[in-house]
Amino acid sequence: MISTEFNVIDRIQASTFKSVTLRALRPQDMPSVYDIEDESFHSPWGKKDFRRCLKHPKCLSIAACDPDTGCILGFAVLDLSSKEFAYLLNLAIREDQRRRSIGRQVMESLQSGMANTQKKCIRVYVEERNLIAQMFLKELKFQAIEILTGFYMDSDDDCYVLQYRKR
Ligand SMILES: CC(C)(COP(=O)(O)OP(=O)(O)OC[C@H]1O[C@@H](n2cnc3c(N)ncnc32)[C@H](O)[C@@H]1OP(=O)(O)O)[C@@H](O)C(=O)NCCC(=O)NCCS
Repeated sequence: MISTEFNVIDRIQASTFKSVTLRALRPQDMPSVYDIEDESFHSPWGKKDFRRCLKHPKCLSIAACDPDTGCILGFAVLDLSSKEFAYLLNLAIREDQRRRSIGRQVMESLQSGMANTQKKCIRVYVEERNLIAQMFLKELKFQAIEILTGFYMDSDDDCYVLQYRKR
């Protein structure tokens, strides 16, 4: 069950944006999701991390699919348990499909989905080294609000907390 307060899936289900269809992630999508995760991060989530999120009632998991073939081109996972904030826990687009506005479509649907909810912001934690994600989020109107040192166990990178505030 997805939080009704932030029920993006209801609004975006089966709606096709410029080139992708957004819908809830399904168990059968997971092999593609694991492949995208592995090619996208130096410390990828494991299957357990995904399973925990997918089972959680306050987690929203979105698949971006090719409207013709149904192939998974990317995904996003959000934590909606806070009243004011949605936390983007994970977002990745298949490596060979990047720079085709797929990430933008996912984020813009989330941003517009917030309009009639109590949530004021979307927050995301980004590694200092992940310049592409920072450029992407800047384009999507996120701003840096905090720098956390010693946040990551597996790297010396600082963590940038970036936030999108609802207009
Ligand atoms: C970050 C990521 C999700 C972007 O997805 P994407 O579908 O390639 O992004 P889009 O094509 O929608 O890009 C939107 C805008 O972001 C910026 N952007 C995206 N990738 C960029 C890059 N490699 N270099 C510079 N700017 C970039 C551009 O302004 C772009 O607009 P433009 O193509 O019109 O110039 C993708 O690179 C990815 O999966 N990275 C690995 C996982 C990751 O780092 N996740 C954290 C995300 S918060």
